[in-house]
Amino acid sequence: MGPPGVGKGTQAARLKTLLGVPHVSTGDILRASMQERSALGNEVRGFVESGRLVPDALMGELIGERLQREDAAPGFILDGFPRTLEQVATLERVTGRLGRPLDKVLMLVAPESEIVRRLSGRRTCPSCGSVYHLDSKPPKAAGICDACGATLVQRPDDTEAVIRERLRIYEEQTVPVANAYRERGILAVVDGTGDLDAVAERLTAGLGPVRERS
Ligand code: AP5
Repeated sequence: MGPPGVGKGTQAARLKTLLGVPHVSTGDILRASMQERSALGNEVRGFVESGRLVPDALMGELIGERLQREDAAPGFILDGFPRTLEQVATLERVTGRLGRPLDKVLMLVAPESEIVRRLSGRRTCPSCGSVYHLDSKPPKAAGICDACGATLVQRPDDTEAVIRERLRIYEEQTVPVANAYRERGILAVVDGTGDLDAVAERLTAGLGPVRERS
């Protein structure tokens, strides 16, 4: 977890390779459904594009369905869920049912000025989901995805007004989630500043020993 633009998706994509478990990003799932113009996509578009949270009941159904798929049986990295105290309770029910409690909650932090800089320079691939930054992670050819050759775009929720709204909602609804996990003794706060490798090293150290996968 961590505020918008702190680097959750970028680092989760690396951890996924290290741990050999799927990266489950609720933001990516919602954006894919919007792109397919599925019923879910049409229902959530207004929330996502204005920076508001999608209702908890809908998110609960979505995460319950995703985590019971076979590829998540050895474990999973959650990115962007839970974001409210109600989602914490939902996740507890789902992981209880699956018999897979959370090992650790990693919270990346960075100053707001850095977050705004990262989000305003972010470019994403609408086709394969790869994430770039105009300064810190530029594609080899300007505007073109290195991985699949599609034209890169700026997310509609990466405008300054929507970024401010996302940060406000994070403070109001998601900071209490961090406090709940801190009380349970499974929260590690990790400095998200510095280059990608430095952050990855700190995150891996924060992860500590994880339960052996069967
Ligand atoms: P979501 O996609 O989860 O957005 P977010 O939490 O706002 O996070 P971001 O994806 O914007 O940022 P990130 O932390 O992953 O940063 P990134 O790695 O890309 O959710 C979007 C929306 O979906 C929500 O607003 C909501 O509407 C809805 N939603 C999702 N989950 C929900 C839920 N559970 N309940 C209700 N609604 C939900 O990095 C950012 C940029 O910085 C990139 O350009 C990257 O290259 C660059 N960068 C990363 N690390 C570094 C570094 N160390 N140095 C320099 N640049 C860096």
